Amino acid sequence: MYTSRKYAGVIAGVLAAGLALTACSGDDGSSSTESPTGTTSDSMDGATEVEVFTWWTSGGEKAGLDGLVSVLAEKYPDVEFINGAVAGGAGSAAKDLLQSRLQANDPPDTFQAHAGAELDDYIAAGQVEDISDLYTEFGLTDAFPADLLDLLTVDGAIYSVPANIHRANVVWANPTVLDAAGLDPAATYASMDDWFAALDAVEASGQTALSVATTWTQVHLLETVLISDLGAGAYVGLWDGTTDWTGSDVTGALEDFETLMGYTNTDRDGLDWPDALQMVVDGTAGFNVMGDWAAGELDAQSLTEGTDYVYFPVPGTAGVFDFLADSFTMPVGAPHPEGAKAWLDVVGSLEGQTDFNVAKGSIPARTDADESLFTAYQQSAIADFASDTIVPSLMHGAAAPIAQLNAISDATSKFTTGGSDLATFQTELAAAAG
Ligand code: GAL
Repeated sequence: MYTSRKYAGVIAGVLAAGLALTACSGDDGSSSTESPTGTTSDSMDGATEVEVFTWWTSGGEKAGLDGLVSVLAEKYPDVEFINGAVAGGAGSAAKDLLQSRLQANDPPDTFQAHAGAELDDYIAAGQVEDISDLYTEFGLTDAFPADLLDLLTVDGAIYSVPANIHRANVVWANPTVLDAAGLDPAATYASMDDWFAALDAVEASGQTALSVATTWTQVHLLETVLISDLGAGAYVGLWDGTTDWTGSDVTGALEDFETLMGYTNTDRDGLDWPDALQMVVDGTAGFNVMGDWAAGELDAQSLTEGTDYVYFPVPGTAGVFDFLADSFTMPVGAPHPEGAKAWLDVVGSLEGQTDFNVAKGSIPARTDADESLFTAYQQSAIADFASDTIVPSLMHGAAAPIAQLNAISDATSKFTTGGSDLATFQTELAAAAG
């Protein structure tokens, strides 16, 4: 069991701008007999199917989803699972498709959304239901850390059930490649400058030093460089308006990002995150920066920590946990609200969170999970989450609304494909902040 996790004020601070930080009791006393969709909440007799919309299609992601599906089959044998997954890491294809469906009044029964600013977009657009009463019904009110519930709550109402907690600022590396480059595979690096020397060594050994994939993975890399160079406080300031995007410290971070991109594979734009990670697994690249869904992927390939791969926080970010959480919603107009309700019950349950997260690489959002069931990496993430400074991920919906993320992604893609210089890149990032 682990119960000591807490969020640093820093994350509550950044999210206060977009979300009302009202403590959520899960029961405002206004409605206890009707579910959000007006059906009675004490029966799921009408549930026949549930279309679950995610972007979980890679090995570890699919294994995690399968874990939830098994628990659904056990708890709700009459509810048929319809897999509405749309491939593309970080929802790169799914989010646009979801938006078209929501606008055409053709929602799935439930969809994946990140806690924080991304979820806030759906709430503000009136696309998701208040599911506070389900928290009471399923006994979820005390199951999650209060600060995580704050991220899912607006004006005292709660709109989704969190499935997990992921860490974004992790480097995954191949010890054999590092060894061949004359590096100590157990080494970690205190700063970007320290890391550049190691990247030089891998490059000199004839392998790709740092593997990266299409634009979203480059934005993911960028956010970790910003955390490394600015520090947690000033990074958070980028999202609450207290850090100036045009400042010289941001320029320095963008220069480091440019240097890092110089170490990467040139075929990146045709690849997604599993491909870039696979370069490390296959020994054609030394390092890869990716969220810890990579741990699920490595596990799905039965690889062994220490001999097949090593990991450490992105250089200069030790002690900082770049946080994101997947959660599931009840869309307005969901065709099978009772099926969605069954899914949300499974997602929030201890059994569902355990089976899902063990395979997914993430750690449970619930605080009562049995730590011993998780891998060594996950146990280290549980410990770090309890002690580190928590900052919100840009690329994965915690820090910024979708529109700002899209503008940052466009500017990044332009820069990394040679369409703009560094000064223009910085100006465009500042403009994206509005
Ligand atoms: C993130 C999501 C993770 C994982 C990753 C790669 O946005 O939160 O669960 O799926 O994308 O696709």
